[in-house]
Amino acid sequence: MSEEAVGDAADATDGPTGPAVRRLADWTAPDLRGLAAEHGTPLYVTDLDRVRENAIRLRRAFDAGDEDGDADVRYAVKAHTGRAVLRTVREAGLGAECASAGEVVRALDAGFEGREVQYTAVNPPSGDLDIVLDRWRDGADLTVVAGAADTLDRLRSRGFDGRLAVRVNPGVGAGHHEKVTTGGHAKFGVPYDRVPGLLADARADFDVVGIHAHAGSGISGDDLDAHRELVARMGELAREVGDLEFVDVGGGFGVPYREAEPPLDIAAVADATREALGEVDAVLAVEPGRYVVADAGVLLTRVNTVKEGGGDESGVVAGVDAGMTTLLRPAMYDAYHAIRNLAADGRAELPVTVAGPVCETADLFCEERPLPTPERGDLLALGNAGAYGYEMASTYNSRPRPAEVVLEGGTARLARERESLDALTALEGDR
Ligand code: LLP
Repeated sequence: MSEEAVGDAADATDGPTGPAVRRLADWTAPDLRGLAAEHGTPLYVTDLDRVRENAIRLRRAFDAGDEDGDADVRYAVKAHTGRAVLRTVREAGLGAECASAGEVVRALDAGFEGREVQYTAVNPPSGDLDIVLDRWRDGADLTVVAGAADTLDRLRSRGFDGRLAVRVNPGVGAGHHEKVTTGGHAKFGVPYDRVPGLLADARADFDVVGIHAHAGSGISGDDLDAHRELVARMGELAREVGDLEFVDVGGGFGVPYREAEPPLDIAAVADATREALGEVDAVLAVEPGRYVVADAGVLLTRVNTVKEGGGDESGVVAGVDAGMTTLLRPAMYDAYHAIRNLAADGRAELPVTVAGPVCETADLFCEERPLPTPERGDLLALGNAGAYGYEMASTYNSRPRPAEVVLEGGTARLARERESLDALTALEGDR
């Protein structure tokens, strides 16, 4: 870490950690209405002050349980790669865990030192390896996490002899949905039993610094047991192979998407993680994404159509200008996002289906959920949109991606412009 970064981190870590959870109801309706009026909808709003609080709370939780106070928290950049977010987590003293060359470049360009950047390469395309190793040759002392013996060969053949960690398939996974439960899947990592042999070979050619595993994403409740099991296995492995700088046990800490769901007690999770790991002569590293940014973001969308639910239903369908192209999680994982009507004041509730403009039945944010009677022109807010929201946006149905506003210290500024229709065809030129 650079001296400057250390200075920033020390200051930031003294800052407030805020409440354990920020609910959709906690956002100020007039402020959100003002932003929608100024910038249009659909619009992502990301509160950098909340990102900072979440980052500091994580650091405190993991550092407190660590004898030397030096647990390593690496932000999983994929949850939200916006430059302002990256700058904020860097200032709060987190490192950057990157899943692609694009994320590595974004992290370095946002000011992370090479030493703070980890590239977790899953079946890395050659172009990605080339770009990352170019940055390494230019002096970025980053860490590459390899998940296959093949990847080691490809790194050797490119002359890489820098910091290397091996991704372990720990044989145990967890997560909010089968599509994000990675831990036991053959796609990820080197089978547990083969890791000691592979590491011994790797030490001849690389600076072997760590072992890595990730159970999955959105871990809470019973899944915490599976996570602890993964951590315990990693502790055993670390003691068996010895001589490591860090043991990275992944990210995946869940956040409460439902209004009444309690938040994780992150300090208790950190204590349980350390206990499960046991005595190891290496730093504990974690790499959460969602926990840092989820409740720092909302998506604003405007109602353009209200019609009857049909059949025997007493409810209505509210058509909105955001869809699965703006926030994919409900369509892809049946994910629940809280919805609040920012216009409604004392209106009666009825079952409301909130539907986007995309010609797919999956393009629904909720079905028959009790919400205030919607009217055309109402502004709706979707909660916990800060993680994997903008990041998974697409241009399907030729829908340009939305704009994003960031809030910091009581001011708001446009962080990403709304994509234009021209941008959608720019790559085609006249062809
Ligand atoms: N580390 C690795 C190696 C990962 O693959 C991931 C997430 C993380 C850390 C961070 O996990 P988190 O703390 O954010 O749960 N699009 C899905 C989530 C996919 C997560 C993929 N990997 C969603 O919207 O739920």
